[in-house]
Amino acid sequence: MRLRYKLPFAFALTTLVFAGIVALVAALVLRGVYLDRLEDDMSLQGRQFAAVLQQEASAAAADAAAAPATSIAQAAYLQTLTDKAGDAGGLRLTVIAHDGTVLGDSQADPATLDNHADRPEVAQALAGLEGRARRLSATLNQQEVYVAIPLPESGAAWSSGVVRTALPASRVDAMVAASWRVPLIVWAVLLLPTLAVSYLLTRSLTRPVQRLQEMTSRVAEGDLAYRTSVHRRDELGDLARSLNQMATDLEAQVDQLATEKERSARVLEAMTEGVIVIDATGRLVRANPAAARILGAPLDEAEGRPLVVAARAFPAQSLIAQARQSGAPVTEIVEMPGQKYVGVEAVPLHPAGQAGDAGQTLFVIRDETARLATDRIRRDFATNVSHELKTPLAGLSLLAETLKHALEEDPEQARVFVDRLSAEVARLIGLTGDLLTLSKLEAEPESQAGERFAPTDMGRLTGETAAELLPAAEAKQQHVSVEAPAGATVLGDEVALRTLVRNLLDNAIRYTEPDGHIQVRVHTDTDARDARWVVLEVEDDGVGIPASEQRRIFERFYRVDKARSRMTGGTGLGLSIVRHVAERHGGQVSVSSVLGSGSTFTVRLPAAD
Ligand SMILES: Nc1ncnc2c1ncn2[C@@H]1O[C@H](COP(=O)(O)OP(=O)(O)OP(=O)(O)O)[C@@H](O)[C@H]1O
Ligand SMILES: [Mg+2]
Repeated sequence: MRLRYKLPFAFALTTLVFAGIVALVAALVLRGVYLDRLEDDMSLQGRQFAAVLQQEASAAAADAAAAPATSIAQAAYLQTLTDKAGDAGGLRLTVIAHDGTVLGDSQADPATLDNHADRPEVAQALAGLEGRARRLSATLNQQEVYVAIPLPESGAAWSSGVVRTALPASRVDAMVAASWRVPLIVWAVLLLPTLAVSYLLTRSLTRPVQRLQEMTSRVAEGDLAYRTSVHRRDELGDLARSLNQMATDLEAQVDQLATEKERSARVLEAMTEGVIVIDATGRLVRANPAAARILGAPLDEAEGRPLVVAARAFPAQSLIAQARQSGAPVTEIVEMPGQKYVGVEAVPLHPAGQAGDAGQTLFVIRDETARLATDRIRRDFATNVSHELKTPLAGLSLLAETLKHALEEDPEQARVFVDRLSAEVARLIGLTGDLLTLSKLEAEPESQAGERFAPTDMGRLTGETAAELLPAAEAKQQHVSVEAPAGATVLGDEVALRTLVRNLLDNAIRYTEPDGHIQVRVHTDTDARDARWVVLEVEDDGVGIPASEQRRIFERFYRVDKARSRMTGGTGLGLSIVRHVAERHGGQVSVSSVLGSGSTFTVRLPAAD
């Protein structure tokens, strides 16, 4: 039952009980009052009848001799008199002799009545006092009110007897009933207005309570901007204000939390290091995009799933075991499929057995493949350089020794050795030149390189470089065609770009048989994304490169046919210089080649417009 019905109902019930009690008390009190009044009336009537009897007694004494037949002494007369007086007074009259014998009764035959001397009111009257009693009538079998009046001494039969009046107590019931109904009628009449008033009163309380309730449930559902509009000066108004204040504070706190959450999410997202958090059961709690990228697994969609399922190759369990055992972060480099190396730091977030995030583990991962590769290349490079220098130096030393002998014995032969010696020295100079170029390219930061860049016409530059190398090609009877119109401009370092073209052309001449064909082309090209490129192609119909080697020829010191390359004076640095220069300029180099039928090297550089 709702409060606004409950309260009026309780109110009506209480007032009804109250009215009932008032009715009951009124009935009891008034009954006594009415009975007293009734007894007084009966007493009066009894005395009047007693006076009549007294008068009759006197008259009878005078007439006693004259008319004995009508004498009052005769029982029949007394009975008639009593009947009449009783009827007139509307009550029962009884005349009782001083010995208790009933002489006359207005409502019963005296002959049937027993001696009345023992009736309390009669006994009292016989003693000379007015007697009153309320009791059950033995004659009439109902609750009766009795008043007995003592009669004076006379000559009559009733001398010193008693006149008794009697009335049923029910006489007053009607009046009592009328009085006890009053409070109930008043209650019934006032019930409706009372209900209305108490309904309105409770509603004026339950309405704001309802609004407050609505507000709390809206806030609980997450509508933190919701405010209640209860403006009252009482306790409910205070409550409303505190609730509004609470919602405001809550909103501010939630906002702050959201901002902080977003900030940390953005930090995680922007990190180049991968971050992975898993719970005690090995399920993924959180992973940032870098982690997904480094592990090559769709971790972003794997939240709540076991990490072993989402990223099979990642040895999370053994790392966790190590970290738990030592209780400290564990750093390790793990090998992933595809010759990928990942540096992992595993940090137990809470020592096991503690509350909160107990058992969670944080992994910070980074891709170490490139760094490890660079390290390896550096190591290889040192080995290669020493090796490359050792051979020509040993050759030089041998040549010098031989030359010494030849100068003494065969000066003619000595000239040949001097030629070979100077060729070896030239090769050494070429090698150190290439090394210098490479280390310069690597040492200079990209930003600084960009500052030196100037618009360079690739067409002109290619034409000039081709002209420089033409004698070498002609020496091998090769046919060189150059298609390099001026105007294809790039932003770059002219010296480096010349080295690039020279290396490609030099290779084409070197690795093409005599009488072969070499084509050099420069043109511009616009790609699908509307970017403009300057494209340099060097095509030959020479020996070609096996498909398996095509990726590796751009590595330092890598030569397909070592003997042949050495014979032609190559060190394997040319193409790595080409790749470096191309990349420095924001471009790339690629090769397509068929073993035995020729190769095409293509360099694409961003056009300067
Ligand atoms: N046009 C080509 N046709 C066939 N093979 C080629 C061609 N260009 C390069 N190669 C192969 O690629 C290897 C690497 O070339 P790269 O220019 O780096 O070294 P190199 O020519 O041997 O020495 P250098 O440092 O003097 O240029 C060569 O040894 C050769 O085997
Ligand atoms: Mg070369």
